Amino acid sequence: MSQTATSQEELKKLVAQAALNYVIPGEYLGVGTGSTVNQFIDALAASAIVIKGAVSSSLASTARMQALGIPVVDLAQVERMSVYIDGADEIDPKGCMVKGGGAALTREKIVAAQADQFVCIADASKRVEVLGAFPLPVETIPMAAPEIMRRFKAMGAVATLRNTGGQPLVTDNGQFLLDVKGLSITDPLGFENAVSQWPGVVTVGVFAHQHAHVCLLGTTQGVQTIVY
Ligand code: A5P
Repeated sequence: MSQTATSQEELKKLVAQAALNYVIPGEYLGVGTGSTVNQFIDALAASAIVIKGAVSSSLASTARMQALGIPVVDLAQVERMSVYIDGADEIDPKGCMVKGGGAALTREKIVAAQADQFVCIADASKRVEVLGAFPLPVETIPMAAPEIMRRFKAMGAVATLRNTGGQPLVTDNGQFLLDVKGLSITDPLGFENAVSQWPGVVTVGVFAHQHAHVCLLGTTQGVQTIVY
């Protein structure tokens, strides 16, 4: 069934609303990045739920939350969070994800690693059998980018430097981002482990260690809750 842009937006709103059920009042909450999370931030701000503070995964989410009156705290102030809520570019049957379409993968992985439960909010188009159709984001130290591109080429994939306004995109962490096409990631954990070891890789956008524990999937039949 094809979805119009409008209906996809509606599905994002639906899962964003459903995610409020996972927010624990009075606690710290990890908050991801992206258009689905933006809907969640709006829903949280409009709700009566009061949290102790949000740990943000990007400058963009921080700005949105602060503008809406949601208190944002540094990760350094927080040892553990019960819940981290974020979107995904792809999610497979085991809850492993590709993330980083919004360039925030490094901070997303860091914050997710300090949370007990990763709640993924996504419209149904994000569900895949095998990760890799969406170009895989890989954040890299700039001087290492050419060699990392060659390594992907040797695997039969094509990595390109993400640009914005004719210049390399610089992440919130001051690094570059590659987008890798032509991958079929049948072993997400093995892939994440291997690529993470390459010199100059800051973060690979495969989230297998920090996989989702719950996915709230927006479908035309409503929100489907998948537990991994
Ligand atoms: C941000 O860097 C990403 O990991 C997002 O979580 C992912 O791209 C999903 O974004 P959307 O909700 O905009 O599809």
